[in-house]
Amino acid sequence: MATSKAFTSLLCFPVLLLPLASAATFAVTNKCPYTVWAAAVPGGGRRLDPGQSWTINVAPGTTGARIWGRTGCSFDGSGRGNCQTGDCGGVLQCTAYGRPPNTLAEFALNQFNGQDFFDISLVDGFNIGIDFSPTSGNCHGIRCAADIVGECPAQLKAPGGCNNPCTVFGGEQYCCNQGPCDPTDYSRFFKRNCPDAYSYPQDDQTSLFTCPAGTNYSVVFCP
Ligand SMILES: *[C@@H]1O[C@H](CO)[C@@H](O)[C@H](O)[C@H]1NC(C)=O
Repeated sequence: MATSKAFTSLLCFPVLLLPLASAATFAVTNKCPYTVWAAAVPGGGRRLDPGQSWTINVAPGTTGARIWGRTGCSFDGSGRGNCQTGDCGGVLQCTAYGRPPNTLAEFALNQFNGQDFFDISLVDGFNIGIDFSPTSGNCHGIRCAADIVGECPAQLKAPGGCNNPCTVFGGEQYCCNQGPCDPTDYSRFFKRNCPDAYSYPQDDQTSLFTCPAGTNYSVVFCP
């Protein structure tokens, strides 16, 4: 009987939880005066001419998710091609993350304490200004819209964007793959321009935000 009771509760647990959590919607809008090829993992990708929007439904419990914009793209009829920034393996419908430089809107849904965690990251550099805001829920949005491309330090300049020092120089100090690491002159440049965004890999303290699980969001390019 003990076995059968344990079996029953194992079965019931997900069945009881699932109806409580529904997909979150992410409305992605291009307010840039030029075409942006929006990308989302999970979600795929879409060409957005100025003023156009794309709504993505994201399953509850999704982690490691990213939305970003790609610039300077050309794709053929089958969705193969390339982009100057943010390219995801040469396909319109991304299943992999983008190539730096690309400004990232990152999120994990329905995590610890019934919260969504979200951020804007410049750890992969900057190509387009982003606003990432809840459209429901009692919580606030974040924005990185400074002229980071125009102000970019010479060593980090890249076609269509401003690169991150890990991509340019490599090394533990910038890439931070192994242990604790500290801000650098380059990360301070990013932080000064966008105080709410990740400026280096361990910038969590001032860069990670929460909303109640179930919140819907908007992501705007060139807010
Ligand atoms: C989120 O968006 C979906 C689809 O538009 C809607 O059904 C749902 O009520 C929204 N959630 C909140 C918390 O507003």
